[in-house]
Amino acid sequence: MKYSRIIAAISTLSIATLSIVSCESNTSLEFKRYYSEGAEVYQTRCQNCHGNDGAGLSALIPALNDSTFLKKNKSSLACAIRYGMKGAITINGKAYEENMPAAELAPMEIAQVITYMNNSFGNQLGIVTMDEVEADLKNCKLIPGSNYLQLIIKPSR
Ligand code: HEC
Repeated sequence: MKYSRIIAAISTLSIATLSIVSCESNTSLEFKRYYSEGAEVYQTRCQNCHGNDGAGLSALIPALNDSTFLKKNKSSLACAIRYGMKGAITINGKAYEENMPAAELAPMEIAQVITYMNNSFGNQLGIVTMDEVEADLKNCKLIPGSNYLQLIIKPSR
């Protein structure tokens, strides 16, 4: 009697563990897909300016390794990529004020490239899904009379 209860408890526990494990591997599979597709978007659309190692270009183009900035501005990144960026920002303690042009990318491609960027160059910020990007794109505040995003990007430090 006692044993069968223990066995029942153990098997319930192992089923629970199994389902947690399979759920985790689904998430990481999704992450891997976003990341590898994002690497391609990055190479064709971002690398020219930001460099293959995300290091940017001297005083003109900021590096993409300021995790604090990326985290703080997570919900503005989709708009910034889709509509371009204008205005002074501070990255790694340095000021930048060149414009970044708009990129004609689908919400899925934007989610993939953000996931790639947010988990490369020393960043470890996890996945950004297409659903999140679609929601963020509904809240873009553009500068009146221009196509640029009104960036209310907070400085990182
Ligand atoms: C023509 C050059 C150019 C291209 C192409 C470009 N960027 Fe930028 N990017 C810039 C410049 C210049 C800034 C600084 C904008 C400012 O000061 O307001 C910037 C800023 C940023 C920032 C915010 C600052 C930082 O360093 O974290 C992010 C994030 C970013 N770019 C990501 C991307 C991604 C992703 C792509 C590809 C989809 C891309 N950029 C393509 C020039 C470019």
